[in-house]
Amino acid sequence: MIKKLIFFLVIVFVAIQFYPRNNNNISKNKSEYALALSETTSDSVLQILKTSCYDCHSNNSVYPWYTNIQPFSWWINHHIYEAKESLNFDEWGTYTLKKKEQVVYEIKEEIEEGEMPLESYTWIHKNAVLTEQQKSLIYDWVKRN
Ligand code: HEC
Repeated sequence: MIKKLIFFLVIVFVAIQFYPRNNNNISKNKSEYALALSETTSDSVLQILKTSCYDCHSNNSVYPWYTNIQPFSWWINHHIYEAKESLNFDEWGTYTLKKKEQVVYEIKEEIEEGEMPLESYTWIHKNAVLTEQQKSLIYDWVKRN
């Protein structure tokens, strides 16, 4: 019985590997609507967002090798899909002023509550964990928007 179950699970695992992989690499070259250096952003703010948020909240994700293995690939793609629904830094320029105001308010809230970056992400991406100094740089940017 156990042997059959294991055999079945192995077959399922192998079968799902044939499903399509991640493809959130829409614009290797930045889109014209990408959040860019402006009066309100600084190099350091952009760098923090790129390191800690862009894998999910942009059109360019970096995919480590294990993300090619199903079912991780589905799971990660689902996160990216959901993340981009609410915030895509590569579409920043298409947002209305009202939407930008709402988004920056949410950014501050999510960071204050420790919701972002997602915990499952920072288990592996230790460099994405925000230091207090990085947080205050982002809060300053949020205030300027
Ligand atoms: C591993 C993927 C991932 C990373 C990295 C990530 N996010 Fe998210 N983010 C999500 C997902 C998924 C959602 C939508 C579901 C939710 O709200 O939990 C989301 C939602 C949000 C929202 C909208 C919340 C709302 O109330 O609608 C904001 C704002 C946000 N993220 C900001 C950030 C910021 C800022 C960073 C970087 C410091 C970041 N995220 C990093 C996955 C991610």
